[in-house]
Amino acid sequence: MKKISIELSQNGYDVFLGNGIFNQLTKKIKSLKLNKNLFFVIDSNVYKLYTTQINSTIDAYNGKAIFFVIEVNEKLKSFQTMQKIYKNMLDNDYSRDTLLIAIGGGIIGDICGFVAATFSRGIQYVQVPTTLLSVVDSSVGGKTGINFGNTKNIIGAFNQPNFVLIDVDFIKTLNREEILSGLGEIVKYAFLTTTDFYKYIVKNIENVFDKNPKVLKQIINESVRFKGDVVICDEKEAGNRKMLNLGHTFAHAFEVGTKYKLKHGQAVIVGIASALFLSFKLGLIEESRMLELLALVLLFKDEIKVGRINLDRAISVMQRDKKNRDGKIKFVLLKDIGNIMLDVEASREDVMYALENGLGVFR
Ligand SMILES: NC(=O)c1ccc[n+]([C@@H]2O[C@H](COP(=O)([O-])OP(=O)(O)OC[C@H]3O[C@@H](n4cnc5c(N)ncnc54)[C@H](O)[C@@H]3O)[C@@H](O)[C@H]2O)c1
Repeated sequence: MKKISIELSQNGYDVFLGNGIFNQLTKKIKSLKLNKNLFFVIDSNVYKLYTTQINSTIDAYNGKAIFFVIEVNEKLKSFQTMQKIYKNMLDNDYSRDTLLIAIGGGIIGDICGFVAATFSRGIQYVQVPTTLLSVVDSSVGGKTGINFGNTKNIIGAFNQPNFVLIDVDFIKTLNREEILSGLGEIVKYAFLTTTDFYKYIVKNIENVFDKNPKVLKQIINESVRFKGDVVICDEKEAGNRKMLNLGHTFAHAFEVGTKYKLKHGQAVIVGIASALFLSFKLGLIEESRMLELLALVLLFKDEIKVGRINLDRAISVMQRDKKNRDGKIKFVLLKDIGNIMLDVEASREDVMYALENGLGVFR
């Protein structure tokens, strides 16, 4: 089992990575001397697929342990779902000495992290991510929250987990669409990190779709280490952590604009295409380099179909983005791989250009 340490000045934690390590979950809890009263929140699809493994882990636990299975989708990433979890915890006499364990994708992780931040003024929690997206991105870094109205992730808290356990075997049951969604954040890292990683991703897209264990482990390892390093330097997103939002301002508008038919990671890929066009329009990157870099995004053009999006509405959604200040839309753009510009403002006309051209790639 690999261990990646997220060495924050306070509340640092480890990410454990391996194949077939889920059965070591409660052993880790004991060895880290975490709270003994376990409350599991489990994605219903994950529970269906892994009933035996999950039940045997919970049954073998020598202490109080209850599990609560919930259905997820973006519309259920809400106060109502949080209320159901709070109620179930209270009905079963859980209080501050609870360890909440989130087993599922980014939605379960984001909701549970926020429940853990707020229940009884804060309880311990562990992330067991089961989708590619949650493994490479959302389970690490402590951003938690829910959607409200038409705004994604607008209510929430920074709340770091006590540890993250990544069992790569969970990925085996993901369908192509979910792998594609995870690839969205991986493509983001390709642009944020190094030319070597970018080339590695270009070369290995099909291996990721085929769930090649060696390639998956390599990519997960690199992604988690990179995200961890960014978070260590800027936990609360006062500066450099903003780079992790590359493509996301556009992506959130596409998710809302398609009523969440477009999955988060897919929306990120389209968002990165728009960010490349905006970077070019604002003179940050030469056209020839922009077209070269677009090659990675173009690999997905037959996989992602966006449909019609009202561009005026997309701009209104972007204006409501929580990353904005003074009512102005702030973009994360790029001059080149690993050369990222934060808080870039653009005129409505330039944003329209980026939207039309970014979306144009996927029509
Ligand atoms: N907190 C962060 O830093 C952060 C970062 C990126 C994204 N996010 C959030 O993550 C969410 C998206 O996460 P997601 O893509 O994991 O979606 P998700 O949680 O909806 O999971 C996707 C689907 O996969 C199913 N599933 C989960 N694990 C499975 C498995 N092992 N086998 C088969 N099916 C499985 C789920 O039931 C669901 O239907 C978004 O809400 C996004 O805003 C948060």
